[in-house]
Amino acid sequence: MLNLQKDWHCYLKKGNSKELIKQIPDNSIDFLLTDPPYNIGKHSTGNIPLPGRTPMNNDVADWDWVDFNPEDWVEDFLRVLKPTGNLFIFTSYNQLGRWYNCLDHRFDTSNFMIWHKTNPAPKIFKAGFLNSCEMIFCCWNKKHTWNFISQKEMHNFLESPICMAPERLKEPKHPAQKPVSILKKMITIASNENDIVFDPFMGVGSTGVAALELKRKFIGFELDEKYFQAGKKRIMEYKKNVSNI
Ligand SMILES: C[S@@+](CC[C@H](N)C(=O)[O-])C[C@H]1O[C@@H](n2cnc3c(N)ncnc32)[C@H](O)[C@@H]1O
Repeated sequence: MLNLQKDWHCYLKKGNSKELIKQIPDNSIDFLLTDPPYNIGKHSTGNIPLPGRTPMNNDVADWDWVDFNPEDWVEDFLRVLKPTGNLFIFTSYNQLGRWYNCLDHRFDTSNFMIWHKTNPAPKIFKAGFLNSCEMIFCCWNKKHTWNFISQKEMHNFLESPICMAPERLKEPKHPAQKPVSILKKMITIASNENDIVFDPFMGVGSTGVAALELKRKFIGFELDEKYFQAGKKRIMEYKKNVSNI
């Protein structure tokens, strides 16, 4: 079991969250902010070849093809989350209803945010909508941490470009790397300084960078070795450059 009493800032571990989450004590997480697999690759018609260029990625990634069942994670998430904690989960149209069905009745309130990407991938064949929105399913109980910024900034609609260079890692390239700016906005609203932010599907560590930048503590797990190492490097570099953590 992790000792979260000591002076620490960040705990990162490579492996399967299903196992690793057992190390986290009950009622210890202030903000569970995560971006699990969406299982949308299997609805795709395949990558699109582009003459002289890398094919357009329509299949997401191998990790997205493994069956991901929101129902399997609810008890773990609820066990580690403080009763006053917030839970925000990036999700896709095909899984939103499943998260709602298994979480809405376990919290006082559930709601959602939309992240609108101002520069989504184009539709080569101009059929259907551009995939320019991602949904974030949110839930909380009464007395949860809530830093209301201003009416203007509290729309449940965030807008930004997708993660771009220089922030976007070239190697390994993660198809779902989130911009730190949108994560910081959520962390500002839903947690306080020194709170513990947890991402069990941290990819290349974007939530960790955002949490540490805002003086929160961070616990992050990732299954894939190359993403884990890249995320750890990013987070450690950030820590090295900041004297007070
Ligand atoms: C949508 S991505 C997260 C991307 C992340 N938000 C970022 O900005 O880099 C989901 C990640 O979950 C990881 N993953 C999938 N199943 C996992 C599991 N059981 N335990 C830990 N990580 C897992 C995948 O390898 C993938 O990197």
